[in-house]
Amino acid sequence: MATLHSVLIVGGCGFLGHHIVDHLLARKDGTKVYVMGRSNGSLRRHGVEYLKADVSDNRSVESVVNSIKPQAIINTAAPITYPLKGTPEFHYKVNVEGTANLMRAAAACPNTAAFVYTSSAHTLLKSDYLDAKESDPVDESPDGPRYPTTTKAIADRLTRSSNNDLPIEAGGLRTASIRPCAMFGENDIQLLNTMLCQLQENRQGYQIGSNTALYDFVYVGNVAEAHIKAAEALVREAVHRPEEGKQVAGESFFITNDDPRHFYDFMRQVWQNAGYDTSTLTPTIIPSTVALTTASASDWATWAFHLGRSSSSSLSREDIEHLCLNRTHDISKARERLGYSPTVTIDEGIERGVRSLCQDY
Ligand SMILES: NC(=O)c1ccc[n+]([C@@H]2O[C@H](COP(=O)([O-])OP(=O)(O)OC[C@H]3O[C@@H](n4cnc5c(N)ncnc54)[C@H](OP(=O)(O)O)[C@@H]3O)[C@@H](O)[C@H]2O)c1
Repeated sequence: MATLHSVLIVGGCGFLGHHIVDHLLARKDGTKVYVMGRSNGSLRRHGVEYLKADVSDNRSVESVVNSIKPQAIINTAAPITYPLKGTPEFHYKVNVEGTANLMRAAAACPNTAAFVYTSSAHTLLKSDYLDAKESDPVDESPDGPRYPTTTKAIADRLTRSSNNDLPIEAGGLRTASIRPCAMFGENDIQLLNTMLCQLQENRQGYQIGSNTALYDFVYVGNVAEAHIKAAEALVREAVHRPEEGKQVAGESFFITNDDPRHFYDFMRQVWQNAGYDTSTLTPTIIPSTVALTTASASDWATWAFHLGRSSSSSLSREDIEHLCLNRTHDISKARERLGYSPTVTIDEGIERGVRSLCQDY
């Protein structure tokens, strides 16, 4: 019997969203799967019901949730961040107001017990860190060039603070946020595709920084499983109160492969999987201080010039930080409370992801 009777995946035609759909369908346990998005144009699956709505349109959200009355809602929707599109106001509207609209509709729906928000591991205030914990402070300043992640940090807090123990019929809703690090896998038009484009454009001869920092990556299917486990735990907790200190409701969870890599080692492994021999590569190294200072100045200049209404199309300071700063996360909380374990390794994930993309080249 299905642990989850019915699930609405908001953004279920996106990269992560369609993997969540696939993982739910693969269980073959009768879970009814719904997807909500603005276009629902690609990566559709047989047996899934697709509904069109924009999360920032409160009325449409209410209407979708009321019409299907899902037991759990998973919100993966967010504006595209690579390449960055949209103003800070737009990101706030989708990430913060959209999440609030969904939780309001979920709380008002007598069947909806659980709400899971896809946050991000990159919401932390500090930029260079090893083994970060969920209790570390996040950056919630919506102004400035980091608005795609700071608005996610606000939505993350809103999700956790909207958790309540009321009975479901009385507006009760159990909530949690999942914070994935950089995801990769099949149909990955962001990270893996960008790395393969570098190869196609013959730009593999440059390296920013010394490639000594450690960085967390995660296979997208592992993240999909973490979302499902969180939704299941929240549904269980609506019936049985968990032991103190073991609860999922009201909490956030870092999700990684627990196998940090040096960024350029990961990228070169992607190139090797695409058939390029990296053994003789001797890249020209651009010092990280030079890259960061230049990007920082250009970020703020672009942001200030456009009054925060646009963003640089070249590498931003944030992009460069990913390449040369330490960013690893402790996932023991997800292991203990969600029963999460990264079952697909980084090597296997790269192989699967590159294979799926190389079919398209
Ligand atoms: N990719 C990463 O490495 C990474 C890392 C950490 C966190 N995350 C987070 O993980 C989530 C999923 O990322 P992803 O890479 O899978 O993104 P994606 O492929 O762009 O998918 C996002 C989905 O959200 C939908 N969407 C966007 N705006 C919407 C709106 N206003 N109303 C309803 N649906 C909307 C899009 O469909 P339509 O265009 O049809 O509406 C799309 O299906 C995001 O919240 C992202 O911030 C991603």
